Amino acid sequence: MPGVTSVMDPQTIDIYDPDGYVAAAPHEVFAYLRREHPVFRQEMPDGTFYWAVMRHADVVEVSREPLRFSAQVGGVVLQDMEPERLEQSKNMLLMMDPPRHTALRKEVAHLFKARAIARLEGAIRKVSGEILGRAAEQGDVEFVHDVASNLPSQVFGEMMRIPVEDRADINRWAEQTTSGSDPDVNPDNYAAGDSEGSVQMAAYGYEYAVRRRDEEGDDLGLALLRTEVDGQPMTDLEFAYFFVQLVTAGNDTTRTMISSGLYELLQHPDQMAMLRADRSLIPTAIEEILRYANPLHYFRRTATEDTEIAGQPIAAGEKVAMIYTSANRDERVFADPDRFDITRSPNPHLSFGIAEHFCLGVHLARLEGRVFFDEMLTRFPAIEQTGDAARFRSNLNNALKVLPIRLA
Ligand code: HEM
Repeated sequence: MPGVTSVMDPQTIDIYDPDGYVAAAPHEVFAYLRREHPVFRQEMPDGTFYWAVMRHADVVEVSREPLRFSAQVGGVVLQDMEPERLEQSKNMLLMMDPPRHTALRKEVAHLFKARAIARLEGAIRKVSGEILGRAAEQGDVEFVHDVASNLPSQVFGEMMRIPVEDRADINRWAEQTTSGSDPDVNPDNYAAGDSEGSVQMAAYGYEYAVRRRDEEGDDLGLALLRTEVDGQPMTDLEFAYFFVQLVTAGNDTTRTMISSGLYELLQHPDQMAMLRADRSLIPTAIEEILRYANPLHYFRRTATEDTEIAGQPIAAGEKVAMIYTSANRDERVFADPDRFDITRSPNPHLSFGIAEHFCLGVHLARLEGRVFFDEMLTRFPAIEQTGDAARFRSNLNNALKVLPIRLA
């Protein structure tokens, strides 16, 4: 809805409708809402509604209050889940509340700390080199699936010692699980959301636990299998849920960071030239890619008591969506927020969330981004887009699904 900021009618605004995200994220509508209706009541097609939290400070407040705004009561996506699925999801870190969340997170956090993840740099460089080597042979690629999507599943495979021949399956299940609202990706299930991918992946995770539990070694998979909560190691079933959580959380998001990152650099040739000339800018460039093209539009919480956000009364049981895409362009926090600026610093974007559920894979994602762009720019002095890009039809995944590229 470009150019209509001043005459928007809140009655006709629909930021739920996935069709409104196909051409681009509705940044103009978000800017209007930040200004006029920072906690916006949005109806959903099933007759329910949610409160969309548009401003940076308010998203931070909701994130910091996991007992007042629960991830567990109704999950983290807007559509209510079947009771059975919701019950299963409660085994995932992302959808647990304290104190259970705090206890499990404390046990696994050290495995994902910056220092532990830094040891993976060599493996990530090797995997990136192999992926880019195959792409070089092709020359013309559909970058999202031929190139970017291989990085997270291959890196995860290295970390967890997953046989190379199983990694494509894992990638496919992850895509089925997280891209549920796009008819091109999930023709049969896009309306209902798909759980088949996560069921298959959980079965794989379960078999993995059974197969590896008694092995000697110190890779991430074995360290997770030995993790104890309340003095008890994770059961095979608990491990299976954790496995699904790691794959689904890291797969599409990382693929999107890589493909949207390349896309934005190609859209902003001055920034691409600056990055090529000075690789020390890679860390701030990755942060700006994450701010400007955050892979997830929102996560949901459910109010557990009658409360308020920024003066807006919220009743117990009502849904609240933290709109990261809006918070990342909040003019109260970011100067010239619609400008893509790879030198931006500080850059307190919320693309990894903040506080209690702050992304466990943040250091891994950043390292993958930094290493991959470094390797790609070294190997290919000329990268060009050869056709139209296409985006997912989704109000959750802020992602490209097609990006035709020539690598030379
Ligand atoms: C660019 C890539 C990524 C983005 C944008 C991203 C984003 C996020 C966000 C927004 C959250 C939730 C924050 C909240 O609810 O407050 C989250 C949580 C999580 N992420 Fe990531 N993520 C990325 C990569 C990864 C990777 C590679 C892994 C795998 C290790 C991972 C594992 C997790 C886990 C396990 C959680 C749940 C943490 C908790 O609830 O305590 N993420 N991520």
